[in-house]
Amino acid sequence: MIDDIINLLDNYEFDKEEKEEFFSFIIPIISHEEFVKRYNALEYPHHDNISLGYHILSDAMVTYKLIKNNDKYQDADLKTAVIIAMFHDLYELPWQNSKIKTKYFTNKHGFRHPIEAVINAITWYPEYFKDNQTARIIIDGIIHHMYPFPVKCASKDMEKLEINNLKVYKQLLPKYKNMIIDSSNRNRILSLSLSKSKYLEGRIVSKADKQVSLGKELKSINSLQACITGRIRYK
Ligand SMILES: [Fe+2]
Ligand SMILES: [Fe+2]
Repeated sequence: MIDDIINLLDNYEFDKEEKEEFFSFIIPIISHEEFVKRYNALEYPHHDNISLGYHILSDAMVTYKLIKNNDKYQDADLKTAVIIAMFHDLYELPWQNSKIKTKYFTNKHGFRHPIEAVINAITWYPEYFKDNQTARIIIDGIIHHMYPFPVKCASKDMEKLEINNLKVYKQLLPKYKNMIIDSSNRNRILSLSLSKSKYLEGRIVSKADKQVSLGKELKSINSLQACITGRIRYK
């Protein structure tokens, strides 16, 4: 994984100092077994043959560069933004052809996965959520990273959402449940929330995610449709 990361950093033209800083942000995250698992393209293919972990790292690098290279993002907290990118897609199960059926269309992977990701991030990396304001910023960034695609609104019981980590959600501290509910009910339309992140860091990650996904990873209309339906056809 480290060799791939160094190659990728070279592709995005990181200098020595930037590489060191970027590594200092991500090392505690990539060493977690759940991240390692998601780096395996056979276990967690994300877009076409790119692994989920590789996609996440690409987003984190583009996020870093967007902030470093744009004066309009100078007020953003670099580390927090990179952390949001590292957590944004930590959903529970591989989504391609998972055979998991949802009762409601709006519970499909595309709408639901940011909620799964935020639950997993808080559970696997609790140290990043100790400070309440930082937690709010990270949680909001993860939840609204798909904008302008809507996200499912979370609720107290969560049974209706058909998430794959409901048991883990139930174990979260009430303050985190409330943050998830507050954030995912902003600009609510029926059971979905259509809102940008309230915070600059989250909005930058959302932009980076589009640049990475639409620019390099999603090579066909079939792959784009698959992000919502979860079904992908390999030729
Ligand atoms: Fe996503
Ligand atoms: Fe993503």
